[in-house]
Amino acid sequence: MARFLVIVATAVLLLVAGATAQRQGCENATFPAGRSFERCNTLPVLGASLHWTYHAANGTAELAFRATSGSAGWVAWGINPVGAGMAGSNVFVASQGGSGAVSVLTTILRSTAPALDNTTLQFDVPVPPTAEYAAGAYTIYATVALPGNSTQQNTVWQAGPLSGGDILPHPTSGPNLQSLMRLDFLSG
Ligand SMILES: *[C@@H]1O[C@H](CO)[C@@H](O)[C@H](O)[C@H]1NC(C)=O
Ligand SMILES: *[C@@H]1O[C@H](CO)[C@@H](O)[C@H](O)[C@H]1NC(C)=O
Ligand SMILES: *[C@@H]1O[C@H](CO)[C@@H](O)[C@H](O)[C@H]1NC(C)=O
Ligand SMILES: *[C@@H]1O[C@H](CO)[C@@H](O)[C@H](O)[C@H]1NC(C)=O
Repeated sequence: MARFLVIVATAVLLLVAGATAQRQGCENATFPAGRSFERCNTLPVLGASLHWTYHAANGTAELAFRATSGSAGWVAWGINPVGAGMAGSNVFVASQGGSGAVSVLTTILRSTAPALDNTTLQFDVPVPPTAEYAAGAYTIYATVALPGNSTQQNTVWQAGPLSGGDILPHPTSGPNLQSLMRLDFLSG
């Protein structure tokens, strides 16, 4: 019994410590003047965090996705309106060319070997997305009308290599297969 209680107490402490670390991890993030977000989640893999402000009145979320990457890498974040995981996800992909100019493409991942055509997403994106690369991390700024006006969404994120500015496939093992989460934009 005592041993059981010790295990439970330890588990509770670890949970509290984990939650605290998670809050501190994303809450200290700084953004350029004029950008701030009410909520954030430190995502469990790929050195990533999501920051957002949800507007219930019009069902939109203004968000920033930040993920560590070398300059010869790309990162992406998106929502899957039809299921969980990669196929079907509508994503924002940030990458940069040799000059360091960062661009964002929006694409629908129609399979697990997608074409990455820069296309209109299946939910409204009322403000053109932008991205920056600084201090070893990309940040994608996007505004989305949450599909179905639901605060609960299947989200995905990813990171991979570039070659001469071209987006190459991400690794298909370890953390790159764990980068999905059902997120409630109300509670985080
Ligand atoms: C975040 O900031 C608080 C207050 O300044 C500090 O105590 C904490 O260590 C910081 N957390 C991280 C992860 O940097
Ligand atoms: C949604 O509502 C918020 C808060 O009123 C406003 O700041 C934002 O511009 C609106 N977004 C759109 C796309 O209308
Ligand atoms: C979205 O849902 C909220 C309630 O959660 C409602 O107040 C709002 O009018 C809805 N917006 C749209 C664009 O349907
Ligand atoms: C995708 O299209 C948008 C809108 O036309 C453009 O601003 C953006 O630079 C394009 N992205 C890439 C990576 O070509």
